[in-house]
Amino acid sequence: MSEIDKALEVLSAGGLVAFPTETVYGLGADATNDLAVAKIYAAKGRPQFNPLIAHVLDVEAAFELAEFPADALKLAARFWPGPLTLVLPRRVPCLVSMLASAGLPSLALRVPAHPLALELLREFGKPVVAPSANPSGRISPTTADHVRAGLGSKVDLILDGGPSAVGLESTIVSFLDGRPWLLRSGGLSRRAIESALGHELLTGKVAGPLHAPGQLDSHYAPQAKMRLNASTWLDGEARLGFGVYEAPLNLSRRGDVVEAAANLFSMLHQLDAQKPSVIAVAPIPNSGLGEAINDRLIRAAAPRT
Ligand code: TXA
Ligand code: MG
Repeated sequence: MSEIDKALEVLSAGGLVAFPTETVYGLGADATNDLAVAKIYAAKGRPQFNPLIAHVLDVEAAFELAEFPADALKLAARFWPGPLTLVLPRRVPCLVSMLASAGLPSLALRVPAHPLALELLREFGKPVVAPSANPSGRISPTTADHVRAGLGSKVDLILDGGPSAVGLESTIVSFLDGRPWLLRSGGLSRRAIESALGHELLTGKVAGPLHAPGQLDSHYAPQAKMRLNASTWLDGEARLGFGVYEAPLNLSRRGDVVEAAANLFSMLHQLDAQKPSVIAVAPIPNSGLGEAINDRLIRAAAPRT
């Protein structure tokens, strides 16, 4: 079986495949599978859900997932495939897991330039979400050996495509308020982007709509008030269970925090859609992904801004 075929099997089964891109190696999962996305966060060992970049085959595939203002279209046409990531409003509905957007109404999209990455995306036929394939807080890997050294058995398969040509992460431009903001400098120069646009990129503290999680405590808040660490259920509250704290919607009956992370955003949305005044959430242990789940729940429960 070819390495690509093995990679397709792993992705289809909800596993993790590290793959080469022209910038750095990515830790990839089926973007439409909440549980697979949760495994990425678990493997990286990050105490928060940082949103992920969805990698797609081409501009057409990107159109199905997000709304493109004219300037974004210009950049995509000019620089994809290549080291540029665009943050855009998610389409509703959007196939990409809400967990990959960390609950934000936006989606980061990129068409990578590496031939193996493109082959994987073509054969898989679905978007692949991938952060850089390093443990949280460590430098991005530019060879398959770096990935092996950093993540070892936490990744099911590593596709070796040689050293990354660019070696720097992609440049990120956000269009959340319709205008182009430089969120991260990277493998594509600011000058190249500005000359394609014919005007300057905005920089500095982003005003208006929220661009990254963690900027506001209540950045993802349901309409309902939240009651956390609910060890008993009260009448009239919508209930979100965990483990033995049983409820019709239970983040994980078997008490698994990875499964709970996979279900978190979609279950909160389902409960909020019932328009309760309060959503009560069972206690979640603070171990593993539990820390990121609790971080997000505390933000959701914070006073509204
Ligand atoms: O070159 C790259 O971009 C590599 C390769 C694998 O594609 N990926 C990468 O991913 O560097 P990561 O997760 O290490 O960095 C992605 C950055 C994060 O800082 C994240 O906060 C930001 O993109 N990001 C992703 N989605 C976002 C969103 N919806 N809004 C704002 N920022 C977002
Ligand atoms: Mg990274």
